[in-house]
Amino acid sequence: MDKFVIRNGKREDCKEIMRLIKELADFEKKTEYVRINTETLEKDGFDTDNPAFYCIVAEHPENASELIGYVLYYIGYATWNGKRAYLNDIMVTEKFRKSGVGSLLFKQLCQEALKLDCKVINFRVLDWNPAIKFYKKIGAEDYTVKSGWHCFCLDESKIKEIVQINQKN
Ligand SMILES: CC(C)(COP(=O)(O)OP(=O)(O)OC[C@H]1O[C@@H](n2cnc3c(N)ncnc32)[C@H](O)[C@@H]1OP(=O)(O)O)[C@@H](O)C(=O)NCCC(=O)NCCS
Repeated sequence: MDKFVIRNGKREDCKEIMRLIKELADFEKKTEYVRINTETLEKDGFDTDNPAFYCIVAEHPENASELIGYVLYYIGYATWNGKRAYLNDIMVTEKFRKSGVGSLLFKQLCQEALKLDCKVINFRVLDWNPAIKFYKKIGAEDYTVKSGWHCFCLDESKIKEIVQINQKN
């Protein structure tokens, strides 16, 4: 297990992280939804005093410049218990799955979340994804089942529609 280097992501990793983001979107059959690029990641995550996200990466055991897995997360706030980490992505490239890399990435996410004083780590998963077994194995609870929470989102066109409606009023 020691052969895998897990570390916090750097600006120079953005090209590789972008490649892995596309690989995850392909796996989730959502390829067409990826609208960002390497430059967006560099700008939002590294060229600012207030990063929109953080990441953790796993290096290829024989080639440190190649990444074989990543975690991307950000910090939010809940009025019930304060700071919480939102895990947006976790992915290990297919060849290296089931070798412990995902668990190492998740462990480092937990370490970072504790350092940042987060009380909860939130994440979501598609209902067909076998990763559900991975999450259950590490002790996560399915809140859709347990408490009936549903995920909602407003896309950009709807946001603009609301703003326009409000400007007319
Ligand atoms: C989910 C994922 C990150 C797990 O990474 P990994 O490196 O394969 O996980 P590990 O090797 O650390 O596995 C830890 C445990 O979970 C189990 N597990 C991991 N992936 C599993 C899967 N797809 N199905 C069933 N069990 C799985 C392992 O068997 C292992 O159990 P063990 O300790 O009894 O051997 C990886 O499968 C992946 O990248 N999947 C595709 C992308 C994805 O779905 N990401 C999540 C999006 S929400």
